[in-house]
Parts: sequence; structure tokens; C-alpha cells
Amino acid sequence: MSPPMARSSPLLEVRQLEVVYNHVATAVQGVSLEVADRQIVAMIGTNGAGKTTTLRAISGFLPAEDVAITDGTISFDKRPLAGRLPHDISRRGVVLVPERSKLFDTLTVQENLHFNVTRRRREIRDKVFDYFPRLGERTSQTAGLLSGGEKQMLAIGMSLVCEPKLLLVDELSLGLAPIVTEEIMGILQNINRQLGLAMLIVEQNAAAALRVASFGYVLEGGRVVFKGPCAQLMEHQDIKEFYLGGAEGKTRSYRDLRQYARKRRWWG
Ligand SMILES: Nc1ncnc2c1ncn2[C@@H]1O[C@H](COP(=O)(O)OP(=O)(O)OP(=O)(O)O)[C@@H](O)[C@H]1O
Ligand SMILES: [Mg+2]
Repeated sequence: MSPPMARSSPLLEVRQLEVVYNHVATAVQGVSLEVADRQIVAMIGTNGAGKTTTLRAISGFLPAEDVAITDGTISFDKRPLAGRLPHDISRRGVVLVPERSKLFDTLTVQENLHFNVTRRRREIRDKVFDYFPRLGERTSQTAGLLSGGEKQMLAIGMSLVCEPKLLLVDELSLGLAPIVTEEIMGILQNINRQLGLAMLIVEQNAAAALRVASFGYVLEGGRVVFKGPCAQLMEHQDIKEFYLGGAEGKTRSYRDLRQYARKRRWWG
């Protein structure tokens, strides 16, 4: 038998994370996950599963109101992140793609890309236009006039100019046509391959995320109920049924899912 391979530590390591809103609502209940260097990881799950809360805890963008990380650790590049401020975390290379609503509607594409960037590096901006040629054709159009898909591309572009080492993407598919989601996911995959940029992609559109990621986690009720290589997850009967549209092309009811998640907890 060959000896076990020495395992290098992951780029991002979340251990037993617990996040509580208003002292009572435990939105994230002991989530552990890893993202390796150059890897795309997907996190899927239905409404209220705790996906956004997990991303916010990692990026430091937990809302100012009553919310706290009550347990667990988050480390990036072997250094602890929990409790640090968002700008410090993004300076270390962990960058959350902003929501589309956070774009500056009255500024042009070009101006949005320059906003908030201390080192205005032309090469990076030009790279953004290489990856998203549609933005390159609209450099002087105001962001408010872009389509939903183009706004999403601009939001990703704004993150890229921060020179991330790990990109956190929350629900890019929201309100977009499936074909546009596929297009943007494909571009993310290209960026990952060319720059080696690691990504944690959170999605309700499980199929779109599992297709581009190599490893996936399924969250329900604030816990990880499944994890594994995406190829395996996509073949898993329950995941097919609950998240990917079952044999009849539709997922089982959310009530089934809740019962299922409860059972999983008992089975560990
Ligand atoms: N600001 C808040 N105050 C109190 N509870 C919150 C707050 N934000 C989220 N929650 C609760 O935390 C839980 C997890 O929410 P979260 O937004 O992380 O889920 P999600 O997986 O991102 O869901 P969705 O797919 O709908 O975006 C939910 O029960 C939600 O109601
Ligand atoms: Mg969310």
C-alpha cells in the first residue's frame, strides 16, 4: 500500500463555523469547508440554508446589526480571518463579488471599474475586457443602462481589479436567463483556468454551479448535509431529486427536503 500523500493546507479553511442572529437564530451551525489553491468549490442549498451568511462571515461583511460568529475558525493562507474588517480581508485577497445593486448606476463601466481601486492598473482593467468583451464594447455606457447579465459581468470585473486570490460569488444567477448564467459561469471557469484564481460559488442554481466546480457542499438548515466531488454529487440520487430536478424534471417539495435534512442530521 502506498503511503498517504502529504496534504498541503487549503487556501481557505472554515472549521465548525457558527453564526447567530439576534442572540437566538443560529443561521450557520457548525459548517466546515475548504477551498484549495486554484480550485472552484460550489456551495448549494435552498432558501435560508445559510449560504449567504457563511460567505459574509468569510468576507467580514456580516451586517452591522445584531449578528455574531459564536464558534469556529476561518483561516486564509494559514492566517485567521474571523473578526477582521472587510477591507482588511479583501486586501489579503478574499474578495466578495458585490451585489449588482451596489454598482454605481450613474457612472460608466470604465468609472465603475476604477472606483475603489488604489492602484489603477490598466492591464488588469484590460484583462477584464478580454474576459468580458461585452463590457469592452460598453466602456462609456452608464452602468444603470446595462442588462442584468452585463451588470453581473461588471460586478465580477470590479472584484477582479482588486487582484483577488479567492473570489466569493453569491447567487450570480439571480434574475438572469439560464443561458446568461451559463455564459457567465463559463467565463468564471476560463478565469479560473487562466489565472488559477480560486473561487467559492454559492448558488441556488445547483446544476450551473456543480458544472463548473470540482468539489461541492450542500447546505440545509445551516449544516452541511452532503459534500463531495461535483461529478459524484451530480450522480447522487437524492441530489438529483432535490436539487437538480428529478427524473420527471421537477424537484420534490420543500417539505420533503426539510424532513430529509432532519433525517440526515440524525444519521450524521
Ligand atoms: N439580518 C438577519 N437577521 C436575522 N436573521 C437573518 C438575517 N439574515 C439572514 N437571517 C436568517 O439566517 C438564515 C440563513 O440565511 P441566509 O441568507 O444565509 O440563507 P441563504 O442560504 O443565503 O438563502 P437564499 O438562498 O435565500 O439566499 C435564514 O433563516 C435567515 O432568515
Ligand atoms: Mg443567500
